Amino acid sequence: MKKYWLKAIGVVAFATVISACGDGEAGDEGEEIDEPELEETEEPEEEEEENGEEAAEEVDENEDVKVIAHRGASGHAPEQTEPAIDKAIEMDADWIELDIQQTADGELVAFHDDEIDRATDGEGEIGDHTLEELKELDAGSWFNEEYPDKADEDFEGVEILSLEEIFEMYGNDINYYIETKSTYLNEDMEEPMVELVEEYDLVEEGNVIIQSFHDDSLQKIHELNADIPLVQLLWWEVDEETGEMEEWLEVTPAPEEMTDEDFEEIKDYAVGVGPHLEYYDGTEVIDEDFVQKAREHDLMFHVYTINEEEDMERLINWGVTGIFTDFPDRLHDVKADMKEE
Ligand code: G3P
Ligand code: CA
Repeated sequence: MKKYWLKAIGVVAFATVISACGDGEAGDEGEEIDEPELEETEEPEEEEEENGEEAAEEVDENEDVKVIAHRGASGHAPEQTEPAIDKAIEMDADWIELDIQQTADGELVAFHDDEIDRATDGEGEIGDHTLEELKELDAGSWFNEEYPDKADEDFEGVEILSLEEIFEMYGNDINYYIETKSTYLNEDMEEPMVELVEEYDLVEEGNVIIQSFHDDSLQKIHELNADIPLVQLLWWEVDEETGEMEEWLEVTPAPEEMTDEDFEEIKDYAVGVGPHLEYYDGTEVIDEDFVQKAREHDLMFHVYTINEEEDMERLINWGVTGIFTDFPDRLHDVKADMKEE
């Protein structure tokens, strides 16, 4: 049995690209998810403690692999909406992942795509609409049409939620894994986001992680509040002819070329990395060695978006510390089965 010791929180174009994830239950209504993993913040003295690493914990086998509900339990309910969040809570997700965009009037809302066409009955760019306009939209009926086997009349007419509404509704009862999305469009979202997570005591209580593909966005947040745990998302494009890999935003070189310095650069501001497993054509972009390398640098390793049981089991055996999934129930089952073996 492998035993890993990890200092970690057990814890766009691409936007449209990875958009339609999941098709995808629930436990007891109102049941709370696991207690937050972050410890109380002591006055940071060492540099690494300034990166939210007071969240350090041991990760032992698969026990602590975090179940991250991708856009809520989006395989079971319309992504980013109240039913998806409630289902994720019922399914004991450790973290609830939400993509955050900015409205025309500067409000932060939970929404994945740059356009509202796919996941609402509206049209156009989300950033061209005010919050009031967006609240008029039906963000649930599309799910019933797309996934008739999961359809529920309660999903009809559900609203897009602002981040503040979500914090108001769930407070410190859940853990939020929020993403600064499409920062080339949402230019000023970091400051209001940090203010909001501070206002709702989510940092000191260990209820929040902020993630982004955009390293400059994470750096900005780190400057605003170094206690917020940050995760650098990574996406590599694979050249179909040569098979060569290139990181989308040039945050890192290809996984096999990443040096100790590259990992340490990320560690300057983040406590973890969030890579994908496969390119669209099925090419796997990461392997066990890459996971282990990141782990040797005490970086959390949260891989997205994994819905197949075989992949979940394989990744857990590679040593990942968390998995984003549209089906939190499925990941819990895999973990339980592995424990029994
Ligand atoms: O945040 C991890 C994963 O959600 C990244 O992909 O496109 O679903 O936000 P996306
Ligand atoms: Ca996301």
